[in-house]
Amino acid sequence: VERDAALRFERLASEIAAFDAGSPVPALMRKAAGDERRHEALCAGLAGSSMGTQGETRLAPRSFGPRAAALYDTVAACCIAETESVATVTSLLAADAEPRVRAVLHEIARDEVAHAQMGWAHLAREAAAIDVTFLSGFIPAMLAGTAGDLFTAAGPGQDLLRFGVLPASRKREIFVQTLREVVFPGLEQCGLSARPACEWLEANLTSTAVAGSTG
Ligand SMILES: [Fe+2]
Ligand SMILES: [Fe+2]
Repeated sequence: VERDAALRFERLASEIAAFDAGSPVPALMRKAAGDERRHEALCAGLAGSSMGTQGETRLAPRSFGPRAAALYDTVAACCIAETESVATVTSLLAADAEPRVRAVLHEIARDEVAHAQMGWAHLAREAAAIDVTFLSGFIPAMLAGTAGDLFTAAGPGQDLLRFGVLPASRKREIFVQTLREVVFPGLEQCGLSARPACEWLEANLTSTAVAGSTG
């Protein structure tokens, strides 16, 4: 994940610089790519091994032009994924993790805050320059990509918490709370409608509750 994030930020830095030469975001993206490579080394150190990568791919639909695609990928990767990552890592820090896990979490948390902020900075800058409302209907697809099987799989329990793995139920709670308190208001502030995203969330919460009650 860290390695793919590094590749994605490097790509977005060049893409954004190509149509918005005055933007401070490409420099932030390049710094973030460096952070992600550091995270990769930290995680590999904890895991005792390094895993292969499939390489990052564009997240936006193929029909998008370059500027809209860069905005889509930035909102998905930074405003949603990195914002959620901050919430997850912060709640892991509040838990009773092992000291060497805590040290890594501290370093990652600090960087991820900056990665989320550069996404919001790009969205705000684009909202002032072009019509960004087309993105509202695509937020559910981005949320689905970030959530993965969060709403459908049983996931890990309490036992891996000290190694920096949140129980699935807690992770779901944090995901939902962060959407409602940070992501949705942030999107609305930039002129997008959070309504499709809210509907996506409610549908997922309903199906999770149904699955939970029937076993
Ligand atoms: Fe990271
Ligand atoms: Fe990050």
